[in-house]
Amino acid sequence: MESIRNAEQVVRRVWSFSKALDLALIDEEVRKGFEIDVGYRHGERVGYMSVRLGYILGMRDRDLFLLLIAGLMHDIGAVGGFAEYHGNPRLMTLHSEIGAKIIKNFPCGDILEEALKFHHQTPCDTDQSESLMAKIISLADKVDIIMGRHMTNYKDRARTLNHVNGLVNTEFYPEVAQAFVKLAGEEAFWLYLNEGELLEPTLEFLFRRKIIQDCSELDGTCNIMYGDHFTDQLAEIFGHLIDQKSAFTGRHSRSVAEAAVALAEGLGWNSKDVRDMRLAAFLHDLGKLAVPRKVLDKPGALDEEEIQTIRTHTYYTYNLLSAADFSENIVKWGAYHHERLDGRGYPFRLQADDICTGARLMTIADIFTALTEARPYRDASSKEKAIRIMEKGVGSSVDRELLGFAKRILI
Ligand SMILES: [Fe+2]
Ligand SMILES: [Fe+2]
Ligand SMILES: [Fe+2]
Ligand SMILES: [Fe+2]
Repeated sequence: MESIRNAEQVVRRVWSFSKALDLALIDEEVRKGFEIDVGYRHGERVGYMSVRLGYILGMRDRDLFLLLIAGLMHDIGAVGGFAEYHGNPRLMTLHSEIGAKIIKNFPCGDILEEALKFHHQTPCDTDQSESLMAKIISLADKVDIIMGRHMTNYKDRARTLNHVNGLVNTEFYPEVAQAFVKLAGEEAFWLYLNEGELLEPTLEFLFRRKIIQDCSELDGTCNIMYGDHFTDQLAEIFGHLIDQKSAFTGRHSRSVAEAAVALAEGLGWNSKDVRDMRLAAFLHDLGKLAVPRKVLDKPGALDEEEIQTIRTHTYYTYNLLSAADFSENIVKWGAYHHERLDGRGYPFRLQADDICTGARLMTIADIFTALTEARPYRDASSKEKAIRIMEKGVGSSVDRELLGFAKRILI
């Protein structure tokens, strides 16, 4: 029972990071690169479909679990390739290769790596992988794009099935296409896809219907995935994805983490809190994945709509970190960094009493780091100048005591 709960927790966490990727995939930059609209909830839908297909194809327990992880993360390389986008004709290959490199750092990385590297493979390709996961994801990916994420009625279902049947042996592997035909006969499959919310149906399918029973192999993988070491690594991976999204934030999350850790250690926090602070700092701008690159990199002043778009990022950070089941401290320290002591911050417009020390500390680490980095509309400030600028915000955006302390630690 305990094992099942661990596995569920891991699925919830990875699912939330997959949602962050899905938000990033709707960036125009990515669309331009793919020349198709990958649309909303792409990773979630591919993850769900893959698991359903994998089961029909005889996959069980740990393999099915890993297939879900691979399906959810399959386009991580597309998000990881922001810098490469402009008109790159090799994008389809490139994002698979970048994704494979990233996912290699996950537990069972060799299996996942193969699945991502070949997730656009077709039976016609000369370079063939035997990875069943790759073949399944390839079909699920194409089906999601063909369906265009519309609500499906029986005519759309027939159209999708015809499309798959018509391209067996060219676009689709026969055994996977056959599994899809079987799955497509189940009304509930389509109805769940129409619902939008697929996490609970997936958990229900895997765990409540006892599709995953033998947790002996799965246990070790889940312990690693929920453990401190991998969680820290996951935060760093996503911190890096966030940073490379904009040309101006190359190492912002990492630098905020360094500043926040220096402050927390300086304050004598215990090692667990310092670790949580580091993790929260790497992920504090997670929601920026949902902000289009053209807004992040705009050289001039932002218009009202762009300001409102940027301001959504902490809302997403809050929701994603909560859904990933991080502790209350990590969620608040990460997501409250634009709240203000005068109550004019976002996204919750919290009052000073509700802004904890960790969040106040993160705000200082974030503003300090941002000011010492160049932006499209201004040069980088020196550390001394950054502190002088921050002093003007004492009492309204910045905590007086913590800033006095930061002055000694950060300069
Ligand atoms: Fe892809
Ligand atoms: Fe995809
Ligand atoms: Fe931020
Ligand atoms: Fe930030």
